[in-house]
Amino acid sequence: MLELSDFYIPKEILHRDKQMKVIREVFINFKEYKCGTNLAILGVTGSGKTTIIKKILEEQDNAIYVSGLETQTPYKTLKKIFNFNIKTNEELLKRTIEKIKEEPIILIIDEIDKISRVNQLFNNLNTIYRNTMIPIIIITMKRNIISEMPVDARKTLFFEKVSLPAYNSIELKDILISRIKQIKTKIPKIEDGVLNYISAIAGQQGSARVLIHIALKCIQKRNFTHSFIDNVYKQMLKQDWFDFVNDINETEREFLRYIIGSCDWKNETTAENLEKKMKFYSKARISQLLNTFEKYSVIETYHKNLGRGGGRKRIVKFTSEEIYKELNKMF
Ligand SMILES: Nc1ncnc2c1ncn2[C@@H]1O[C@H](COP(=O)(O)OP(=O)(O)OP(=O)(O)O)[C@@H](O)[C@H]1O
Ligand SMILES: [Mg+2]
Repeated sequence: MLELSDFYIPKEILHRDKQMKVIREVFINFKEYKCGTNLAILGVTGSGKTTIIKKILEEQDNAIYVSGLETQTPYKTLKKIFNFNIKTNEELLKRTIEKIKEEPIILIIDEIDKISRVNQLFNNLNTIYRNTMIPIIIITMKRNIISEMPVDARKTLFFEKVSLPAYNSIELKDILISRIKQIKTKIPKIEDGVLNYISAIAGQQGSARVLIHIALKCIQKRNFTHSFIDNVYKQMLKQDWFDFVNDINETEREFLRYIIGSCDWKNETTAENLEKKMKFYSKARISQLLNTFEKYSVIETYHKNLGRGGGRKRIVKFTSEEIYKELNKMF
């Protein structure tokens, strides 16, 4: 069922008009004035970042799209832009700039956070921009990408943020109905209650990918029960945390080792405890790291009143025995 696969570009894209307008403006300005704003398209996984860009690329032709998921390094990313076969980064950068000057394009880099030593790429993009003034669009789920960029690149490139908020379950239901309508083969009729349930489950992460994946599984297995839907979602979460942990950076890795050292799957620890152990991180940073791991269901946290003198504490524990054991093996 191609229409529900990740490669299919939907005929209509709902709830993203505002963001698509901002991106289209960059394309229009580029056509008319040969320059334009640089954009950072930000949003959680499944919020439609790649989809809206691919949709716009169906209508426009003056852009080159590269995905960091595929290229992985700054060198391979530069190389991919024009498929140059050049050995050194320096020469590659020079030739890329020359080529852009001959044929200006909008440069789009999706999943930029998947590129290792991304700061080097930002410095290269900075050089490209200074020499050509072409619009550069980066796409990522990392909200702090701009604040962590090398200062010079940040100040020159001056990315305007385009935020894609996580979808709520009402929006997800609209999307689901629209996507199901696009399926050409005959499928069983899906009851309204089932649509609501799938949308509510996917709404926990606000992800249209989760939504469409669950719907696809239900149709393929001809099973629309709540317990089946719950199960599909559980399986997806498992895959998510695994991919996420495989992909974390050195700081996050170290942080995770500290958590593993501080609690196991039965015994909890507290944020305060972690702060004591990791004096080199600020309280805010620890709280942010905990939020990240919680989002991917690696850990769970909740607040507890420990009574007189104890105060209100943020309790931290691993989500499951299985995750704890897997992590112990990995680290
Ligand atoms: N507004 C929408 N209308 C219809 N389908 C959508 C919409 N938004 C997302 N989708 C669908 O949801 C799935 C995930 O979207 P997409 O790949 O664009 O997310 P993403 O933000 O790029 O996620 P990631 O950060 O994981 O790359 C795709 O199958 C896409 O077609
Ligand atoms: Mg994407």
